[in-house]
Amino acid sequence: MKVSIIGAGNVGATCAQFIAMKGIVSEIVLLDIAEGLAAGKAMDLAQSMPALGFDTLIYPEVDDYSKTANSEVIVVTSGQPRKPGMSREELVAVNVSIVESVIKNAIKFSPKAVFVIVTNPLDTMTLVALKASGLPKNKIIGMGTILDSNRFRYFLSKKLQKPINEIEAMVIGGHGDTTMIPIKELATYKGIPISEILTNEAFEEVIKETMVGGATLTKLLGTSAWYGPGAAVTELVDTIVNDKKKLMPNSVYLQGEFGIDGVCIGVPCIIGKHGVEGILEIKLSDSDKIKFINSANAIKEVNGLI
Ligand code: NAI
Repeated sequence: MKVSIIGAGNVGATCAQFIAMKGIVSEIVLLDIAEGLAAGKAMDLAQSMPALGFDTLIYPEVDDYSKTANSEVIVVTSGQPRKPGMSREELVAVNVSIVESVIKNAIKFSPKAVFVIVTNPLDTMTLVALKASGLPKNKIIGMGTILDSNRFRYFLSKKLQKPINEIEAMVIGGHGDTTMIPIKELATYKGIPISEILTNEAFEEVIKETMVGGATLTKLLGTSAWYGPGAAVTELVDTIVNDKKKLMPNSVYLQGEFGIDGVCIGVPCIIGKHGVEGILEIKLSDSDKIKFINSANAIKEVNGLI
């Protein structure tokens, strides 16, 4: 089994690290245009294997896509990240051409792959990838709301002072500070609705923290985060290659679902070896229905820039 990661920067290299450590595939190709970067990261990672006890083959490449041939999954982490104070949407101009060229190159050698898009602005880049690939919509998955959901769980766990893995929560909508929708009704602690445990005021605070979760990290780090994104991509890749049929929120192309058409946006979907194998049209509260429509409209506006 082979996964190729295009873009060996902070997020791409962390994806390689976590995918290798979990032994999800036997081979990883780490490709970047920057001379030496993929080679250095792959060598460094390989030298960590004896101490940590994993054994994945990691091949570094500089822009030679023939080495990515027959990948089960292609992860697209190439492109500029945001700097403090920037919105993800401000990255459109620079990242469109990167994503288009990466997809066109990768698909020549892996026409059957499922593509996982990570580059921001995520929902627009997922649409760019879908158009550039000409693939059926189930093969193109944007990873954004898995990460947002994990951030929601983190802020809930802090507020409740409970272990994060005892908390379930989901974010849908756009992968943007103002477009994501943390769903209150789906947040549970050991199966108990969190709305029965937290005051409304405390819950709203958590929602605010979640929505600016990425921006908070960008301010602290001077660039965007990588452990959370790398881990979320790893869970998604594991779900695809091991055909787990797991329910997870991802940005996918809608054609009428949730009353929305022609936009890639985060919705709960079943993921397996064919990529998106179903979309679950969960019942939304009236206020979340409005937020979802507004979110789709905001993404459409950014899509208008491509
Ligand atoms: P980075 O700057 O550390 O790495 C990006 C890499 O892409 C660089 O090494 C660069 O040389 C490479 N690259 C640029 N053009 C390329 C091309 N045509 N072919 C191959 N490689 C190319 O950035 P980082 O932090 O890894 O972020 C990457 C992208 O992921 C950004 O757009 C960022 O905003 C996004 N991101 C998305 C998240 C999500 O949840 N969807 C979370 C975190 C970051």
